[in-house]
Amino acid sequence: MNGQAVAPPEGQLSYGEILQLDDLLSSARVHDDDVDSVLFLATHQSCEIYFAVLLRHLEAVRAALDADDSTLAVRRAAPLPIIVTTLTRQFDGLATLTPRAFDAIRTELGTASGFQSAQFREVEYLCGLRDTRFLSTQGFSEEDRARLGARLKERSVQEAYADFAVRATDPDAVERVRRALVDFDEALAMWRARHAVLAERFLGGATGTAGSEGAAYLWMAARRRVLPDAWATS
Ligand code: HEM
Repeated sequence: MNGQAVAPPEGQLSYGEILQLDDLLSSARVHDDDVDSVLFLATHQSCEIYFAVLLRHLEAVRAALDADDSTLAVRRAAPLPIIVTTLTRQFDGLATLTPRAFDAIRTELGTASGFQSAQFREVEYLCGLRDTRFLSTQGFSEEDRARLGARLKERSVQEAYADFAVRATDPDAVERVRRALVDFDEALAMWRARHAVLAERFLGGATGTAGSEGAAYLWMAARRRVLPDAWATS
């Protein structure tokens, strides 16, 4: 290898083809003239990609629990807190925006907000935190509502864990699964708290773009747990 570009061998896809980079980067919000907006929008897009990855892993955790395969359940749950912690660190990047840059972005956003992230609600619904009031969130598309409605009919990870714990004959295996689930929920609680601090930094006591009480709403939301049963040790 001398570092010069060579065509991939016959029948093999290149790195860019496998990752569909032409499509991905043409729809990524990295082309705006304003680099503050690039940081803000691309951060949200990368969060959405990771929310999708969380959903796939949570589905795999549920399937492994239903198959009484605790080793696989723990393995599939292992990346969850790491991913969420990565998302928490992304808030640190957004905190580098100046108040003026943030205010300009906020004006552009209008009433749009992360509150309208259907995938975030899917994560909550799939785990078992099922507040159906969110179904009527302004800004959800019909497809969003249909996906969320389908999640409500599905078995939750929490139900799968509870049933697995009743059937299991090895208490150590139950404990390993429980800890893996708590690690995820704890990381999510830290994400929520970091989010609230960030909102406080930029909004003070002002309302959010979706019309909530801003940081005060997010501090209240930080008390939510998506897998409360896993926290109980007895
Ligand atoms: C400077 C950056 C940010 C600020 C100031 C901020 C602020 C807020 C506020 C005030 C809310 C409450 C709803 C509202 O009235 O708008 C909210 C909700 C939300 N935001 Fe952010 N946010 C930021 C970045 C992000 C990022 C990067 C994501 C990742 C996708 C995100 C995802 C969410 C989600 C999922 C909710 C709903 C939370 C819940 O209901 O528990 N936010 N945000």
